[in-house]
Amino acid sequence: MQDMLVKLYDLPDLHPMEQKMDHLGIVVRPALAAEKSIVVNWVRERFDEGWASEAEICFSYQPISCFIAIKDQCILGFACYDAAYRNFFGPTGVEVSERGQGIGKILLLKSLVAMREQGYAYGIIGGVGPAGFYEKAANATLIEGSDPGIYRGLLSIVPPI
Ligand SMILES: CC(C)(COP(=O)(O)OP(=O)(O)OC[C@H]1O[C@@H](n2cnc3c(N)ncnc32)[C@H](O)[C@@H]1OP(=O)(O)O)[C@@H](O)C(=O)NCCC(=O)NCCS
Repeated sequence: MQDMLVKLYDLPDLHPMEQKMDHLGIVVRPALAAEKSIVVNWVRERFDEGWASEAEICFSYQPISCFIAIKDQCILGFACYDAAYRNFFGPTGVEVSERGQGIGKILLLKSLVAMREQGYAYGIIGGVGPAGFYEKAANATLIEGSDPGIYRGLLSIVPPI
């Protein structure tokens, strides 16, 4: 899993995507402290314990470094930054049935804007899966030699003997 680099000073315009989300009735905003359990459990149920742990960390910062996409009181997707390391984007995920509508992209770009507003010129996408998504959505480029990166030697849950 390689890391990717993004130019935070050269991000695409968010307005057309915000208009599309408005049209679809989807709200994309930072999560609130009171929503911590709901969001972390949602991530654990759909993805895994490691991502839930990273999402949880985001709720210990102010501002909370986790964006969520919501419609009709349901979470459709989430995106974190400053979770594994400062200035790292991820984890992120969209409900399977809601993919392909631009939710992943707006969650990514809103997070990258927040990272830029903290004063960073470049952002890092940590341990990517779908590199094509990040290339397309944010012109991200792979960081040579970054695999294995920060997750080398990661503990995983081993079933009891
Ligand atoms: C990756 C993920 C967040 C994308 O969310 P999404 O809402 O389906 O993505 P979007 O609809 O915003 O896609 C934005 C663009 O990226 C493209 N894209 C989406 N997934 C892609 C992929 N896996 N590879 C290449 N391009 C992809 C879309 O076609 C779209 O292109 P367009 O702007 O030309 O229409 C979602 O597929 C997901 O939750 N995957 C499982 C979890 C995961 O892998 N997270 C990332 C870990 S690093």
